[in-house]
Amino acid sequence: MAKNTLLSDAKKAKNDEFYTQFADVEKEMNAYLEYNENVFCGKTILLPCDDPEWSNFTLYFAQNFEKLRLKKLISTSYAVESKKYLIKDWLPTLFEQQAPWYDVDKSKIKGKIFTLDHDTNKNGRIDIHDLEWRYLEGDGDFRSEEIKRLRDEADFIITNPPFSLFREFMAWIMEAGKRFAVIGNMNAITYKEIFPLIKENKIWLDNPFVRGAGYFTSPLELNKNLSYFNSHDYREGFIRVPGVRWFTNIEHGKRHQFMPLMSEADNIKFSRHKEVKGVGYKKYDNYDAIEVPFTDAIPSDYKGVMGVPISFLDKYCPEQFEILGMCENEDLYKMKTKKYSSDQCKQAYFEKFGKKGTYDLNASGVVLVDGKYEKVYQRILLRAKA
Ligand SMILES: C[S@@+](CC[C@H](N)C(=O)[O-])C[C@H]1O[C@@H](n2cnc3c(N)ncnc32)[C@H](O)[C@@H]1O
Repeated sequence: MAKNTLLSDAKKAKNDEFYTQFADVEKEMNAYLEYNENVFCGKTILLPCDDPEWSNFTLYFAQNFEKLRLKKLISTSYAVESKKYLIKDWLPTLFEQQAPWYDVDKSKIKGKIFTLDHDTNKNGRIDIHDLEWRYLEGDGDFRSEEIKRLRDEADFIITNPPFSLFREFMAWIMEAGKRFAVIGNMNAITYKEIFPLIKENKIWLDNPFVRGAGYFTSPLELNKNLSYFNSHDYREGFIRVPGVRWFTNIEHGKRHQFMPLMSEADNIKFSRHKEVKGVGYKKYDNYDAIEVPFTDAIPSDYKGVMGVPISFLDKYCPEQFEILGMCENEDLYKMKTKKYSSDQCKQAYFEKFGKKGTYDLNASGVVLVDGKYEKVYQRILLRAKA
């Protein structure tokens, strides 16, 4: 295999091999249960892209099977040989080896399915000790017909899916119209397959992670090679992954809480941001909207369109705001009032950097600073609800 392919596979694997902590699963499920204690009652839950032998998703739902009054729990794993990286000296677990149906050939190339729906050991309760397992027909790829059938049987899909396949994974859930809670990277909100769903309130976010970063565990071989983790922190057995969120369509209370905001006049007087205090808000040159550089500086009484940072979605309450679109290249939301020519982009680059190049003004909101074009960061366009 070419060196470049190996490197890019390693990079993808880096993003795919993060394992979720029990407390993070529990915290998120509690948010749904606080809103509706019967949310999972009588339901079938599928945990795909998992590793049921040591997954905290499987552990949480198996342990809480009776408390949540589940109908059935299904958890599937992806075959070790199909993963994008190979675990050196990989061995099947003792748990697998001790099963009478353990098969040395299947062990590496087949996924596994774990199910829980009745009291197999007849001890009077249904819990983790009642999980039954077998090898899948295939490798457990969520795109396979075998796993699609499990998806169709389920009411809820809950997992931390491979980040490299996030678009495909979300499309896979949405085409089946399932309820879901999955962990993904905040960047995914800008995907043109994802953002329209957020705009239409078919998907929303939850951010229970401290300062927006998740701490995950990862296989030893990847941890050792810290160069794989140049953009992530690696500390005491955990990898800090910034910008992770839960993407979900399960109701939780936080999304219905109004954000406390000051009026435009008060922001100009009292804002803690020097960009706003005593300065006010700039109008975009290419959208009929004002630039609001911080979510907590959204003026409560502004009636027009506002461009706000994407982290606004952590505070988004659909009763308070209507999302209209985002600043992007293709004008997918038909909100651009101006398109810059390539000469203007070149000129803007020269004025900004004093050398030849092109400044892609059409990719974002643009404001004028001292008579020069200045692109702003990624912005969501919204309006306050009356
Ligand atoms: C981010 S990890 C999370 C694992 C587990 N859900 C957890 O949170 O502990 C995603 C897992 O999906 C697996 N995976 C990658 N591609 C897959 C595919 N096409 N189908 C199913 N699983 C896949 C990866 O190997 C990885 O183990």
